[in-house]
Amino acid sequence: MSTVTTDADADADADAALKAKHRAMWALGNYPELAADLIPALGTTLVGALGLGAGQRVLDIAAGSGNAAIPAAQAGADVVASDLTPELLDVGRARADELGLQLEWRQADAEALPFAEGEFDVALSTVGIMFAPHHEASARELLRVVRPGGHIGLINWTPEGFIGQMFAAMKPYAAPPPPGATPPPRWGDEEHVRSLLGDQVTEFTATRALLPVSKFAAPEELRDYFKERYGPTIAVYKNLGDDTDRVAALDRDLVELVRRFATESGALDWEYLLVTARKVG
Ligand SMILES: C[S@@+](CC[C@H](N)C(=O)[O-])C[C@H]1O[C@@H](n2cnc3c(N)ncnc32)[C@H](O)[C@@H]1O
Repeated sequence: MSTVTTDADADADADAALKAKHRAMWALGNYPELAADLIPALGTTLVGALGLGAGQRVLDIAAGSGNAAIPAAQAGADVVASDLTPELLDVGRARADELGLQLEWRQADAEALPFAEGEFDVALSTVGIMFAPHHEASARELLRVVRPGGHIGLINWTPEGFIGQMFAAMKPYAAPPPPGATPPPRWGDEEHVRSLLGDQVTEFTATRALLPVSKFAAPEELRDYFKERYGPTIAVYKNLGDDTDRVAALDRDLVELVRRFATESGALDWEYLLVTARKVG
């Protein structure tokens, strides 16, 4: 029997290969340590902004090691933490076990969620959904799994803020983006998010806010911390191979970036966009 390969099969294969690459990238280094050291406030902020509590079924999309999912469960919600990268979910599961919390941990692509329509009262993501490359697809899925009248809550790095600018600084050194992908920090642009959610939401709010980061005594320290722990940074350096001139240039550009954002005390403020909305129902 002959096998016919269609364009749809080829697209599905290309997407599976892309997602496998992304999964491997996020498993590099030590993302859970970085999340615990630097950004736990994003999880608790989003849980507070949505007023989560008992009686709510909540989906955390691109949950990583549970930065938002764990405080949501601590607030009493019934939580499913989903992510492309099972290595990160494993760390989250272990942490939840230590805390005596019950959550469901589920490997899932934000662009093809394995959940029923309207299954959740709330769907949220902290600097997670922004990294799924096809924004229309992940927005469609985010809206699909929330019940009519349910809540959506997102925290994403803005394009102009420190992490958005870190991606801009790394871009000339990175492998070209896959066809059809939109840059992650666009999810931190209010108008972009408004157009992604469109008329399927009401009570849309968007607030820019700053996350203070004071862990690093010198710009080089921050750069090296990311070089060791943050998958996207590690992947960019890997892409440079043994081109020592380009590695040195990227080293310099990242230090320059930190200097540009550092306040007098050496601390930084990382800007993010907090979005809340209600699905029309
Ligand atoms: C910066 S981390 C954020 C994790 C977590 N939400 C937090 O606040 O620490 C980005 C996460 O997006 C996940 N991710 C990337 N692409 C994804 C996709 N297509 N579907 C689901 N998760 C994805 C990564 O595995 C990673 O856990």
